Amino acid sequence: MEGRDLCLIDQRLLPHALKILRLSTYPEAIAAIREMAVRGAGTIGVTGGFAMAQAALAAPAGGGFWQEVERAAGAIAAARPTAKNLSYAVDRVRAAMKGAPGIEEARRRAVAEGQAVYDDDARMTEEIAKAGLSLFQGRRSVLTHCNAGWLAYPGWGSALAPIYLAHRQGQSVFVYATETRPRSQGAKLTSWELTQAGVPHALIADTAAGHLMAKGEVELAVVGADRIAANGDTANKIGTYTLAVLAREHRIPFYVAAPSPTFDAECPSGDLIPIEERDEKEVLEVSGLLATGEAATVRMANPGTCAKNPAFDVTPARLITGFITEQGIVEPNAQAIGRFLHSR
Ligand code: MRU
Repeated sequence: MEGRDLCLIDQRLLPHALKILRLSTYPEAIAAIREMAVRGAGTIGVTGGFAMAQAALAAPAGGGFWQEVERAAGAIAAARPTAKNLSYAVDRVRAAMKGAPGIEEARRRAVAEGQAVYDDDARMTEEIAKAGLSLFQGRRSVLTHCNAGWLAYPGWGSALAPIYLAHRQGQSVFVYATETRPRSQGAKLTSWELTQAGVPHALIADTAAGHLMAKGEVELAVVGADRIAANGDTANKIGTYTLAVLAREHRIPFYVAAPSPTFDAECPSGDLIPIEERDEKEVLEVSGLLATGEAATVRMANPGTCAKNPAFDVTPARLITGFITEQGIVEPNAQAIGRFLHSR
């Protein structure tokens, strides 16, 4: 955050252009989250935390200050429904402001807490990188889905964090990145991140995963998460569930990398996780760069055909081998998750 401005990468333009968006107000931050200029559970969360700080800085100092902050908190938390990190960050900033002995102090606390959410998240991803490192001993090829790198979670990212560390330490790692239709976060973002870091990888169509697993070319799967219920059921990008079923069939370890802010102790099981439905255009169209270098979106699907576009799915805990967290590997059951969340 620079003054009242929030500066962040416009992820809609990657990998073809790297542009920084400067957002001056919390409604602009909400729009950036909704339109997916910023995306990924952790990045949405820290954006929400800073948006709360923007709301506190802009709210009038008179009697309406706290009402305005509450109104903003509701609107920010509702910008996207599935990722737990968003309401986590909003609640943290709101709680830090409560009890402040004056509006100026409340504003100061909002800015400091927004920054603390960011700093804590970044530190946790460093721990995730270390915690996941042992999974690469004796294994080289790893499959990941969507984008769970540093674009999606501040610091090292979530699922990509152990991959980056293993690569940095000189271990031989090869990543299969799924394309991740309809928004193609794997093709556009994960491939870009891995290229920047020099990590060997191949992009695969989502439909190729089973074939590669059957041929023994995938030794490990690591994905991120948007919300993890108290029993371990995990919401992540649409297609994760399919990959987990395939991994079980082929006896491939399937790990979910996520820091504690992604866990939702109040949500008993995955069927209660709100699943975002997005615009059907995301399925009916594709966007990219023309040979002329111009950005374009074209209709791909049959004219007149409608689409359904759930953005996330829920992988039952029984299909998950373990959670890679800032406190090490946590077993996918309610008791182990409860112990982990109590000790943070
Ligand atoms: O719709 P998106 O791009 O925000 O979805 C992101 C994902 O599903 C990621 O895999 C998830 O946030 C885990 S990484 C923090």
